[in-house]
Amino acid sequence: MFDWLRSHFKGRPGWANALMLFAGYMTFVYIPWDFFIKPVAVDEEVWFGILFRGTAAKILEIPHWFVYAAGFYGLRYMKSWMWPWAAVYAGQVAVGMLIWPLLYVEGFLGLLFGVISFIPFAGFSWLLWESRSVFQDPRPSTRERYGEWAVVTGASAGIGKEFARALAADGMSVVLTARRGDRLRELADELEKNHQVSIRVVEADLTDPAAAEAIATAVSDLEVGVLVANAGFGYAGRIDKQETARLTDMVQVNCAAVVALTSRFVPAMVERGRGGVIITGSAAAYQPMPLHAVYAASKVFDQYFGEALAVELRDQGVDVMVIEPGRTETEFQDAAGEQSGGGQLPHEVVETAFDALGRAPSVISGWFNWLRGHVVRRLFPRSFAAYLAREYMARQVPPELR
Ligand SMILES: NC(=O)c1ccc[n+]([C@@H]2O[C@H](COP(=O)([O-])OP(=O)(O)OC[C@H]3O[C@@H](n4cnc5c(N)ncnc54)[C@H](OP(=O)(O)O)[C@@H]3O)[C@@H](O)[C@H]2O)c1
Repeated sequence: MFDWLRSHFKGRPGWANALMLFAGYMTFVYIPWDFFIKPVAVDEEVWFGILFRGTAAKILEIPHWFVYAAGFYGLRYMKSWMWPWAAVYAGQVAVGMLIWPLLYVEGFLGLLFGVISFIPFAGFSWLLWESRSVFQDPRPSTRERYGEWAVVTGASAGIGKEFARALAADGMSVVLTARRGDRLRELADELEKNHQVSIRVVEADLTDPAAAEAIATAVSDLEVGVLVANAGFGYAGRIDKQETARLTDMVQVNCAAVVALTSRFVPAMVERGRGGVIITGSAAAYQPMPLHAVYAASKVFDQYFGEALAVELRDQGVDVMVIEPGRTETEFQDAAGEQSGGGQLPHEVVETAFDALGRAPSVISGWFNWLRGHVVRRLFPRSFAAYLAREYMARQVPPELR
């Protein structure tokens, strides 16, 4: 219990933890209550010191909610964009708190209320302003933290390719693996030329249960400090319209291969007392997904597996983290037979992953995906979330597969 609390509050100054709790309370308790339960007739909202009532107050609760949710998310993951915007927002609240009682409470009492409520918010604004280095903390490179070599699966496209680029840019030598060797060799040339690191290409098909062992053998002479178990794919459509072998291959690549690779590479990391494992899960793990049932279930497996290992290996010096992207612009949707286009860029997903490695057991990439994932998981019954997900998936899947 104490370990759990410590893991959530470590790495942040005490005042930032207090502010995070306050923003969490506003996001998950106070503003939902204000919006959904408080009668319109008595509703009040203050922006820039001006008091709004009734319907105007109801409407203005929506941007307030977004601001507090962004603040909670930013403090939870110590996002660099918190500086200077959190300080500016807290400053605005402080000034508003001073003006509001002066305008609406007459005499000395108004001044007293104003000054008393101004002080804490002005204090937080000042602390946030002074905290640039806390939010933009220069971290040691991945190579310095974990060692010379990284293995990236699914490196021939999309998110895996960006992981390989980011690791090489950080000075790591990289083992690139996937089925399409021509693409891997092209990427290897690019990385060797741009970053003066060593690259090794290992072609492997992870639907083969022996592939993880073959990859481990092909790199047994290297000190692998980072494993990025990223390869994965999905098929969209109703289960009776899918081939059984494609579905079981998905479980093999998305789940069994992740376990096999992790189990092969982690023991040496534990022995050295340092290492990093990144597993690419998905925001799809936050609700059951009709028409994407096997895929979403495979990503729940990745989430539980990675989050459990994060705690299991914490005292051994090995950081484990599950990165959970929402829709991302890669070849994934084409391969899955879904409508393609839109979403985050792969490099944004990768930046989120490196930000969170060693800080959180899992992270959803993109604040909107994060908000949607947590609202759906925490506020809705799972059966209802499944119906919502079906509506969404039905728009992505061709009619003949629904
Ligand atoms: N894009 C999204 O919207 C999204 C959202 C959430 C999660 N994700 C997850 O992100 C990860 C990467 O996907 P992506 O978006 O980058 O898709 P992508 O562009 O299609 O890339 C998938 C990668 O996985 C490799 N792969 C697929 N099947 C394989 C197999 N049998 N053996 C070995 N490698 C295999 C592919 O390489 P070869 O084809 O060359 O083998 C490719 O390098 C996946 O785990 C996916 O579930 C993606």
